Amino acid sequence: MRTDTAPTIFRQDYTPYPYRLPQVRLEFDLAAKSTRVRSELRFEPAPDTAPGTPLVLHGEDLELVEVRLDGRPLAADEYQLTDDTLSLIPPGHGKPFTIGIVSLCRPADNTSLMGLYVSGDNLFTQCEAQGFRRITWFPDRPDVMARFEVLLRADPAAYPLLLSNGNLIEQAGLPDGRHQALWRDPHPKPSYLFALVAGDFDCIERTVTTQGGREALLQVYSDKGCREQTRWALDCLENALRWDERRFGLELDLDRFMVVAARDFNMGAMENKGLNVFNAAYVLADPDTATDAAYRGIEAVIGHEYFHNWTGNRVTCRDWFQLSLKEGLTVFRDQEFSADMLANGLPPAEAASARAVKRIDDVHTLRLAQFPEDAGPMAHPIRPDSYQEIGNFYTATVYEKGAEVIRMQHTLLGEAGFRAGMDEYFRRHDGQAVTCDAFVDAMESVYTQQHPGQDFAVFRRWYAQAGTPRVRVRSDYDAAARTCRITLEQHCAPAGLETRQSSPIEKPPLHIPVALGLIDADGRPMPIQWEGKPRDTILLELREARQTWTLKDIPRAPILSLLRDFSAPVILDTERTTNDLALLARHDPDPFARWDAVQETAHRHLQACMRADRDGGAQPAPDTLLDIWRAALNDQALSPAYRARLLTLPAVREVIDRSEPMDPRAAVAAWTGTRQALGAQLAAAWRTTYDTLADDGRPYS
Ligand code: BES
Ligand code: ZN
Repeated sequence: MRTDTAPTIFRQDYTPYPYRLPQVRLEFDLAAKSTRVRSELRFEPAPDTAPGTPLVLHGEDLELVEVRLDGRPLAADEYQLTDDTLSLIPPGHGKPFTIGIVSLCRPADNTSLMGLYVSGDNLFTQCEAQGFRRITWFPDRPDVMARFEVLLRADPAAYPLLLSNGNLIEQAGLPDGRHQALWRDPHPKPSYLFALVAGDFDCIERTVTTQGGREALLQVYSDKGCREQTRWALDCLENALRWDERRFGLELDLDRFMVVAARDFNMGAMENKGLNVFNAAYVLADPDTATDAAYRGIEAVIGHEYFHNWTGNRVTCRDWFQLSLKEGLTVFRDQEFSADMLANGLPPAEAASARAVKRIDDVHTLRLAQFPEDAGPMAHPIRPDSYQEIGNFYTATVYEKGAEVIRMQHTLLGEAGFRAGMDEYFRRHDGQAVTCDAFVDAMESVYTQQHPGQDFAVFRRWYAQAGTPRVRVRSDYDAAARTCRITLEQHCAPAGLETRQSSPIEKPPLHIPVALGLIDADGRPMPIQWEGKPRDTILLELREARQTWTLKDIPRAPILSLLRDFSAPVILDTERTTNDLALLARHDPDPFARWDAVQETAHRHLQACMRADRDGGAQPAPDTLLDIWRAALNDQALSPAYRARLLTLPAVREVIDRSEPMDPRAAVAAWTGTRQALGAQLAAAWRTTYDTLADDGRPYS
């Protein structure tokens, strides 16, 4: 977006804003060509602000009409204007003062999709990260949190609906033929969560009663004529509200919660307080044409933006370096929501495999999008140290790896411990703008209770270190002693900027939770004596470069099922035989690890096909894979969606990625040949499965 002349911003340079802004009043005279904004900002100096400290406001592409201080218009030499700031020296009496600003912006000419812009015939805003400064001069940074009162005025023919954050206080016609609406948001918020929407929309709504007995109105707005396509989105919104109550005890804190679909929108959706704005693609679904994936996509994004109401809005980011504080955590929450929805109402055996479908899909994207980012020239930690343009930092690393870092804390603390950590986080920080450390501190306070004498000092390095760690696994079984020794060794290669350093850098080890289970040669789970109890899955906490564990009372040589549920965002280096893998692919009780073993088996077969191709031989028969697939196809205890994941070959792109040198033609030949063989040899079972699952004419569910 910016050229290389943009200054670099460093995380270490953070300084608090010298003024508090308890109250903001905004008045909009809305029109597409030119919109007039009158703002009244009630400031007070922060406790240690010296008299004479300048007040600096951000502004971009604005036309200034007037500036007032405590009602008195200021002369041009009483404030300074630059391309992107307005500054002045406030009175030195240390008491509150009011800045009044009138300015103009031009929505119809605004093609940046930031600030106030036109989509179709409607007006929308988008303020994250730094779009509010295109609406009016303001301290446009997330650590300045204010209570907003917003008055919208417009021509009712062009803009019959006038929406903003919070609660609708009053609506009225005006003598000049226009109408107005007054909105008040009771919760202090940073400017990036401000929104207004003006236009003509269809709306569906429903009233719900929250856990605590509050009545709330849920609404979904869409373009005229789209009403019927928004039913699913409204269902998802209610499900999200219920889920956050159940799982985290977090309630909706407003009388109304609105979702508006916009045809022009840069991202998927935006969590503005009480007024989420969505890309129409994540709201509208037509049962005749939308796929299961489209339905699940809407559910995930509705959930995500709704969950931000607590993780992002009630507790927000101190500065944009902390983006993962809200995004990593909220992605983790939407992943869990989607997984729980997949398992909703199923018997326990099927529920586990249904939930795993979400995990499989998320890990698959992580490996496909985030691992390459973390291995390439743009690699960065989930909390970067510097940026030139924050808009370029909404990355797979901040989001997806950020969510994995939250998930590891969930794994280390357990479900109840994580919940206690979340409660503690809100107890300490509700209404504040904080750093990622605040979150880890809250989680650490629980971890330390669970594990006296231990802390998250090593774990915190996940926030500072780029690159995907590799974990090497070695194990040996001592039949006489009935013990199994497991050694884990970690290494993280230089990543991103580090690769440009002349002297090699040593990266300190990370705290890596490795979930482990054992199965025997017949595929039966072997319980492990661990912390005084027999367990099917244990958690090895690797904190040093290399550590060894000795498991006792192991009656037979075990096969290791590692990184169950993908317990850490790492690459495993193991020496597993094809036989071991095949056994895990058939019998691993952990559905994620089982899927991973099936994929690995398929990869090995595909590579064998490519070698045969290179040597001019015939493709080997996929015998092992065939057995695994046949078993999966016929296993009625597994959810159909999970079976579909097991019965999907790795994408050709992944096959090519593994070949050295890359050979796309051979990869396609291997993939096509294998698919044909599996299709032909299992034809009868495919046919039965198809018939069992065929559309029976009942309404879509
Ligand atoms: N806060 C973001 C939207 C955003 C990102 C606005 C960057 C401005 C700049 C929102 O919560 C978000 O993350 N949306 C995602 C979808 C989500 C399901 C991960 C998006 O828009 O892609
Ligand atoms: Zn988000």
